[in-house]
Amino acid sequence: MMKSVDLELTLSIRINIKYIIPTCTLWKFIQGDGHMILNENFQLANGVEIPKIGLGTWFINNNDVAQAVVDAVQIGYRHIDTAQAYGNESGVGEGIKACGVNREDLFITTKLAAEVKSYEEAVASINQSLETMGLDYIDMMIIHSPQPWMDFGEEARFFEGNQEAWQALEEAYQAGKLRAIGVSNFQKEDLDNLISNGTVKPMVNQILAHISNTPFDLIAYSQEQDILVEAYSPIAHGELFKNVKVAEIAEKYGVSIPQLSIRYTLQLGLLPLPKTAKPDHMKNNAEVDFTISDQDMEFLKNVERIEDYGDASDMPVFGGKLK
Ligand SMILES: NC(=O)c1ccc[n+]([C@@H]2O[C@H](COP(=O)([O-])OP(=O)(O)OC[C@H]3O[C@@H](n4cnc5c(N)ncnc54)[C@H](OP(=O)(O)O)[C@@H]3O)[C@@H](O)[C@H]2O)c1
Repeated sequence: MMKSVDLELTLSIRINIKYIIPTCTLWKFIQGDGHMILNENFQLANGVEIPKIGLGTWFINNNDVAQAVVDAVQIGYRHIDTAQAYGNESGVGEGIKACGVNREDLFITTKLAAEVKSYEEAVASINQSLETMGLDYIDMMIIHSPQPWMDFGEEARFFEGNQEAWQALEEAYQAGKLRAIGVSNFQKEDLDNLISNGTVKPMVNQILAHISNTPFDLIAYSQEQDILVEAYSPIAHGELFKNVKVAEIAEKYGVSIPQLSIRYTLQLGLLPLPKTAKPDHMKNNAEVDFTISDQDMEFLKNVERIEDYGDASDMPVFGGKLK
């Protein structure tokens, strides 16, 4: 027969286990298990909530992207960034259907191809994205670039073409096909063109912004206009791994270079869009519940400008030319 002291011990262990487990879960919930960012949102100018971190999907091919979306959603991501130009909208649409989370709890962004610079083409293109993704509505659609990729970085700004594309986006927004509309790669003059001639102000400007290449003036101008700035290529398309100074700071905080890079953008009030199809990397990128000191932020803001983007240097967004 069990001695009364043993019985007490057994009961106490049982009772404690019963209460310790929920307490841990509760604590993890409060602490966010290092993934708090996944539960946080920015608010767009029209009041729509947008999750503070999004999964980038450039270079994730259409056959793999559905699984990447499912994995990301399982980890807690609710925001996916795709584009007509990535050729993976249908895969993203499949991932949305397979991920097990209600459509209204996800935020999906796609981009109107940079070459679409007429009203008619833009209307057709918006409808095509809805069809390709198999969605009744898209959370946000943005003009991929003010200039077609062949003309990226040239003088011509395509003001009229952007006004036409914007009109089509505005109408789709008013019709409820899109919950928010915005732009990408827009400089100040491109933003002013739509602000002066449109009826709805762009809600985001998605731009290249990372340690060693942060366009502070454009960020400040966009934010003054109540335009949320999204940071694309927050890890410099992977090139930040080569920066010894950045590696030293990351080591000091006991975090990875992507975590430091992502945290840097968040502390500037930007919405980061790190790309990966690897669940381990997705988890790592969402563990950014630490603070970079003001002093280190200053240091990171002044890290020498990146010279090239390696194999990706020929991409227009990284300063390359297609012609
Ligand atoms: N609007 C535009 O014109 C524009 C332009 C460029 C990008 N974007 C958007 O921004 C997104 C991100 O930009 P990006 O694709 O250029 O690159 P990025 O997110 O700056 O960097 C991606 C690279 O970092 C690696 N990586 C990510 N997380 C990691 C981790 N935790 N540990 C180790 N390595 C990690 C990835 O490798 P693995 O894949 O092996 O994880 C990949 O090589 C795009 O996917 C796209 O959605 C938009």
